[in-house]
Amino acid sequence: MDKIVIEGGVPLRGTVAASGAKNAALPVVAAALLADGDHVVRNVPDLADVRTLGRLLAHMGCAVERGADALAVRVPGDVKPEAPYDLVRTMRASVLVLGPLLARWGRARVSLPGGCAIGARPIDQHLKGLEALGAEIRLEHGYVEARVPGGRLSGATFTFDKETVTGTENVMMAAALADGRTVLENCAREPEVGDLAAALARMGARIEGAGTHEIRVDGVASLRPLDHRVIPDRIEAGTFLVAGALPGNDVAVTGCVPSHLEALAEKLRAAGASVTRTADGLRAAGRGRPRPVDVKTAPFPGFPTDMQAQMMVLLSLASGTSKVTETVFENRFMHVLELQRLGADISVDGRVALVRGVAGLSGAPVMASDLRASAALLLAGLAASGTTEVRRVYHLDRGYEHIERKLAPLGARIRRERA
Ligand code: EPZ
Repeated sequence: MDKIVIEGGVPLRGTVAASGAKNAALPVVAAALLADGDHVVRNVPDLADVRTLGRLLAHMGCAVERGADALAVRVPGDVKPEAPYDLVRTMRASVLVLGPLLARWGRARVSLPGGCAIGARPIDQHLKGLEALGAEIRLEHGYVEARVPGGRLSGATFTFDKETVTGTENVMMAAALADGRTVLENCAREPEVGDLAAALARMGARIEGAGTHEIRVDGVASLRPLDHRVIPDRIEAGTFLVAGALPGNDVAVTGCVPSHLEALAEKLRAAGASVTRTADGLRAAGRGRPRPVDVKTAPFPGFPTDMQAQMMVLLSLASGTSKVTETVFENRFMHVLELQRLGADISVDGRVALVRGVAGLSGAPVMASDLRASAALLLAGLAASGTTEVRRVYHLDRGYEHIERKLAPLGARIRRERA
């Protein structure tokens, strides 16, 4: 198993380009199932999660080919509408095939994803939304067994009990081919939902309101293959901006969308960093020791849960105590114990972490527990004096494209080793 070794305490300066967004690419690639033929999805990052979805589509009978930055997917007239446990287990986003399979073929068998390191993560809202459109769903032997009597879903009004990103995406995809109008309320407003709606529109879907709480879909009888370029990864970009905001650093991220990163930029500024717009992105520079800042995660446009762990690294070096509240997932403080091994002073009580800033961190071997926790450990290792070894980097590889190759030109002393 690979590990990443960092000699920390070296200033980071320079420019790094944002990759395509994992969490936009996954639903857009799943949306290909909505139409037969040859699809092209561009700006797709080369990541373990994208490869897992490719394997899942291949398992169903699609041909998937990776080009330089694009994924070509050929969807046949009939597929095996099944997502087996082994593929869903390694990537929860596999559940995104459920809506398209039901809409296109009227049946699906998708493994229940189960819990994961950041919490229980149920999919009840996906299932309720699909039931509202007429699907009959049974849970059997760990699988969602779903079918549509009569073969075609029907438009309906449905209110999500809770804002869910992939839930909104799943039901919106299903509604695109349903008979009649669907109105979805309390939808997630993340930019990735908007990007999926844009991709579906290119396929001929009629969707309004993506990016707001109410999405209206007028179902069409069929869709055409898609050719779509996914948006830049705001969480990868945000991770580099936190790196830039660390004391002594100065990092510009090109190709990111500033309006997707406002909540983070505001907190970085409150912590004393300079965050400025550049011609094609954002630049963050750390000016001395960060100031303490309270952070509470929330659905978009709030502060992203996917940036909470990285922000905590910056706050762990602040000149006072910050309160970090996680409202989206119940168990997303797994990085705290590892950050303590690097000398951070953090205590957790339920969903609240108190981060008492320390003057410096010191390198140590640490273990990654999930994707964003790994990114936080990497940032902490870059800021710490001495050597940090981050183990279990397969978590990192699920969501960050060649991160060591992107950080090295900024001056980071970072390398990957076979453990
Ligand atoms: C998406 O996960 C992202 N994944 C996550 O990215 C991200 O952390 C999360 O949204 C929140 O922004 C993808 O886009 C592939 P949710 P998702 O459904 O859709 C509860 C990363 O690091 N809920 O919006 O699975 C749920 O338990 C990751 O890239 C229900 O109760 O998240 C959570 O508390 C990890 N029932 C809250 O809603 C449901 O049916 C929000 O989850 C669905 C969700």
